[in-house]
Amino acid sequence: MTHLKNDTFLRALLKQPVEYTPVWMMRQAGRYLPEYKATRTRAGSFLDLCKNTDLATEVTIQPLDRFDLDAAILFSDILTIPDAMGLGLYFAEGEGPKFERPLQHEADIAKLTAPDMGRLQYVFDAVASIRRALNGRVPLIGFSGSPFTLACYMVEGGSSKEFRTIKTMMYSRPGLLHKILDTNAQAVTAYLNAQIDAGAQAVQIFDTWGGILSDGAFEQFSLRYMKQISDGIKRENEGRRVPLIIFTKGGGLWLEKMAAVGADALGLDWTCNIGEARRRVGGQVALQGNFDPFALFGTPESIRTEVARILAAYGHGSGHVFNLGHGINQHANPEHAKILVDAVHELSRPYHI
Ligand code: CP3
Repeated sequence: MTHLKNDTFLRALLKQPVEYTPVWMMRQAGRYLPEYKATRTRAGSFLDLCKNTDLATEVTIQPLDRFDLDAAILFSDILTIPDAMGLGLYFAEGEGPKFERPLQHEADIAKLTAPDMGRLQYVFDAVASIRRALNGRVPLIGFSGSPFTLACYMVEGGSSKEFRTIKTMMYSRPGLLHKILDTNAQAVTAYLNAQIDAGAQAVQIFDTWGGILSDGAFEQFSLRYMKQISDGIKRENEGRRVPLIIFTKGGGLWLEKMAAVGADALGLDWTCNIGEARRRVGGQVALQGNFDPFALFGTPESIRTEVARILAAYGHGSGHVFNLGHGINQHANPEHAKILVDAVHELSRPYHI
């Protein structure tokens, strides 16, 4: 077990004292970095890159060599689970992820089971390899999609604007959707536990599409299954707590309910005021967020002003991990990402005296 040289991120998630507000960026390894594009070309494709231990390790570390980030995130994708379930994941040029065999028929849904974790061994190998490469520099975050967000891709067969197929299933045959969600929750629990065993020091559930649900449906079809995972995953490893972060994009209306499921922290998109969110969750959980990813398209001055506004809104004390409210855009300027990271470190110190 290597000693962590910088554990600020883990301390902030547990609301323990820190010297400055830690920062990482969702999708910090990716196409906005020219070095990422070069490595992906060497790998052949995005999926080949995810499955190549050395290259997945290399792209995980790339943003850390450019920016003073306080955490690394495993390079992989949320759709590895449905791929391992046999749905046939592929990426059509310019169209995002697609499945060869979307899950729309009752007979296929009845047959769905959580995949053998051996089929995802390449992910756990990447976790172990990244931990070795980090050598205690910063903690490593493991992740998964939420059961509902995975179901959106599995049922729609890819990205969607309206989510008509999954919402039709939800309103007309809710039992079928519950079967998929329960299977996904079992799979995600085993998957996150295996990432923790391989060395992930915190885990995040990406509920990218929970926010498309109506009030009531969110609790039944998304939150409930994230609670099942929270109840089923290991929360301690290597003698330390492994914090769980739940991020529902568009989840600002439900923060009190989300704070009650047992996660250590909630991710916030850019639409809510983080100070109000802090009062609403009443110190039950830490908060991660919530800089609009498109604010990186402003000027160096406007980026610093926006960082200052968010830090002031959160206020004094620990329990804040600075992040974007969603993934960094592929057209973002890496120089601007550096301005953001440095501004968070510099401007947050007075809030931790
Ligand atoms: O954050 C990181 O740096 C770690 C890597 C990571 C990726 N995907 C790599 C990736 C993480 C954490 C994800 C999560 C993910 N994947 C989510 C949840 C977060 C979010 O953005 O809402 C979702 C919905 C997916 C599914 C997915 N994968 C989509 C919709 C796409 C295509 C759209 C896009 O942004 O390109 C992907 C592909 C993908 N996943 C890329 C990367 C770097 C781009 C692939 C490429 O190199 O061409």
